[in-house]
Amino acid sequence: MKKIRKAVFPVAGLGSRFLPATKAQPKEMLPIVDKPLIQYAAEEAAAAGITEMIFITGRNKRAIEDHFDKAYELEAELEAAGKDALLEVIRSVIPKEINCIYIRQAQPLGLGHAVLCARPVVNDEPFAVLLADDFMDVDAGQKPVLAQMTEIYEREGTNLLAVQDVPRADTRQYGIVSVTPYQQRLEKVNNIVEKPQPDVAPSTLAVVGRYILNSRIFDYLEKLGKGAGGEIQLTDGIAALMQAEPVLAYRYLGQRYDCGSKLGYLKATVAMGMKHPEAGKGFAEFLQGIR
Ligand code: G1P
Repeated sequence: MKKIRKAVFPVAGLGSRFLPATKAQPKEMLPIVDKPLIQYAAEEAAAAGITEMIFITGRNKRAIEDHFDKAYELEAELEAAGKDALLEVIRSVIPKEINCIYIRQAQPLGLGHAVLCARPVVNDEPFAVLLADDFMDVDAGQKPVLAQMTEIYEREGTNLLAVQDVPRADTRQYGIVSVTPYQQRLEKVNNIVEKPQPDVAPSTLAVVGRYILNSRIFDYLEKLGKGAGGEIQLTDGIAALMQAEPVLAYRYLGQRYDCGSKLGYLKATVAMGMKHPEAGKGFAEFLQGIR
């Protein structure tokens, strides 16, 4: 069984729901307390054994490349000032054994197209896809969500989607799967549709932003036309792939925050703020006071 070494981070989206904050900076650089969303996703990937991180970027995304690069001037200044703890914080943004690769997606043609842009680097290996605005938190002692998934992949050897139940009114925001039971927390996917209206959705089981896919997906993505919202949809590629090989849905352990929405982002900020080693205690006291 091939190990998952490569992960694709589609980060070319406009982030229009966070304007004006995202006018000149990528939405993936919005911080939860003191760490940008994209760094949480990269750390989750690293914890799952990913060594090749492939970012599908677009205009206005330079800050992401800078974030994962060495910051010579800053390091020199911190070093001269003897600020060793901070120096360590910025040096450890990206572990040494990890390669970051950047591919520009010239036009925002959809998530499926963004993933297809990674083909020349992924080649014929199975790979992960992480959507950074689906922020995944787990309890202390629990494996991060992608690591839960790579473990299952190593056992089952097939395509895997992270899923959670959502209110029926929300099906229009997600890829929705219909499934038959397989194992504990694991289902066989029979059908997948992108953003169905609540009255026609085949279920309320929604795909969230963590995928493990075999490279054969590229053959299908290449042939796809425009789907929901006029975009080339990853969901449609998965629907085609499903005709050729099994796709499993995994009910992950953890808490997802939809940081593509203001409310989800605020919830993540509060949850992580309360857990923060430095500010957590004071923040929790503050919240008590305003309740
Ligand atoms: C994308 C996918 C959708 C998936 C969702 C998870 O939609 O197209 O299938 O359920 O991510 O967050 P987006 O949120 O980019 O509209």
